[in-house]
Amino acid sequence: MYEVISEFLARPAPFSISTTEQLWTDPHIATEMLRFHLDETSDLASRRPGVIDAFVDWLDRRHPLSGLTVADLGCGPGLYASRYAQRGAKVTGLDFSANSLAYARKAADSAELSIDYRRADYLKDELPSGQGLVTMIYGDFCAMAPEARKLILAKVKAMLRPDGIFVFDVFSTGMFDELSEETIFAPRLMNGFWAAGDYVGFKTTHLYSNEAIGLDRYLIAAPGRTFQVYNWMQYYTPASITEEVLAGGYSSVEIVDFATGGPWPGGASAFAVIARP
Ligand SMILES: C[S@@+](CC[C@H](N)C(=O)[O-])C[C@H]1O[C@@H](n2cnc3c(N)ncnc32)[C@H](O)[C@@H]1O
Repeated sequence: MYEVISEFLARPAPFSISTTEQLWTDPHIATEMLRFHLDETSDLASRRPGVIDAFVDWLDRRHPLSGLTVADLGCGPGLYASRYAQRGAKVTGLDFSANSLAYARKAADSAELSIDYRRADYLKDELPSGQGLVTMIYGDFCAMAPEARKLILAKVKAMLRPDGIFVFDVFSTGMFDELSEETIFAPRLMNGFWAAGDYVGFKTTHLYSNEAIGLDRYLIAAPGRTFQVYNWMQYYTPASITEEVLAGGYSSVEIVDFATGGPWPGGASAFAVIARP
C-alpha cells in the first residue's frame, strides 16, 4: 500500500509516461466519455454546441468549406465533422475511439451526410493527403509529448495542399496560472467515470511552472484491478506555439480567438492557431 501510494504521489518527468490510448479506448471510460461529448451543458470532453457553431461559422467565412477536402483528426463523435459536411465539405473524420466513431457514423446516416469516418491512430497510421483543411480540436495538440507534437506537425504538413491550412486550438498559460497542485480521493471519483461498480479514485495534480506543463494523474483502485491515467497538458503563449509550429516547417502562423476568429483577447482561455505549410 505504502509503495503504491508513494509512487503515485511522486512527480514524474514531463511527458515521461503516456496512457492516452487507454483514456480514449477503455470500454467503460469510452462510454462515459461519449456521454460527456454529447452533454450540451458540459465542456469536459467537447465544447458546447453554441461555441462549436461559432467556430465553424468563422472558419467557413474565412476559408469556405463548400467543396473543400477536410480532415478532422481526433473527430470524436463528429461534432465538427458533421458541421463541415453540412456546409458542403468532403470530410474524413479520424479517431481511435470505436465507440465515438460508431455514434458519429449513425448520426451521419440519420442526417444523410456522407462522411468518411475512419478508425486510425493519427500518430501511427497513414493519413489522407490533398487536404484543403485539417483540424484538431479541443487541446489534443497540448496533450501530446514534444516528439509526438513534432511528428503530428510533419504528418499534417504532408496532408495539406500547398494552399491548405492546419487549424487547431491550444490551452493558454493564462489557464495554467489558474491551476493549483492538490491531491484528492473519493469513492467512485467523478461519479463512476473511471470504472463500472465500486472503486476508490485518487487524483493528484502536478504543475511544472518553468515549462508551463500540468499533469492530472489518476489512480483507480477497483476490486481486483488497479490502473493509472496520466493527463499531461502543455500550455502555450502565442509566441511559444508560433515558435514551435514554425520550427515544424510551416511558413506562417496566425493566432485568433477560438469562438470568433478575431483577435485573441488573452487571459485564461484557449486560442486557435492557423498554420500554413
Ligand atoms: C478531447 S477529445 C475531442 C474530440 C473532438 N475533437 C471534439 O472536440 O468534440 C479528443 C479525441 O481525440 C481522439 N484521439 C486522441 N489521440 C488520438 C490518436 N493518437 N489518434 C486518433 N484519435 C485520437 C480521442 O479518441 C478523442 O475522441
